[in-house]
Amino acid sequence: MLRWACRAATCAALLLAGGVLQGCHSIPPPKPLDQLTPVEQSGHAEFVQHCSTCHHDRTADPLNGPGLAGLFKKPYLPSGAPANDERVRNTVIHGRGNMPPQGYTMTDAELNDLLHYLHTL
Ligand code: HEC
Repeated sequence: MLRWACRAATCAALLLAGGVLQGCHSIPPPKPLDQLTPVEQSGHAEFVQHCSTCHHDRTADPLNGPGLAGLFKKPYLPSGAPANDERVRNTVIHGRGNMPPQGYTMTDAELNDLLHYLHTL
């Protein structure tokens, strides 16, 4: 009984360590462009038109703004705000720091498609 409990505890510790390591180091790569759904493809087109002058999408390297690879796979945005649709939508609509507001150049539907694309990164 005691031995079983020890093994279970070791196993749990290993699982936990694995999970933590994965969270810190290996963010999975963006979904390949040729596998995007039609909605995600349309979001990609919005990204190219409205965001790509200032942001890399498929790497985390900064351009004018931070690289957006893994945006929704990390718990926090570069500013420290939680990485969720609402915060990203607000950033696009209202701008942030040196990022000009982009909302008025896009319809709601285009912004929705863009968010779908950002979720593939
Ligand atoms: C003219 C350059 C420019 C354009 C165009 C631009 N951004 Fe940004 N973006 C920035 C800069 C600069 C920052 C850093 C702002 C700060 O935190 O001070 C930023 C920050 C961000 C952040 C991080 C926000 C946070 O809370 O950390 C997201 C997400 C983002 N931009 C998404 C987008 C998307 C999506 C588009 C296209 C619709 C876009 N940006 C267009 C310059 C730009």
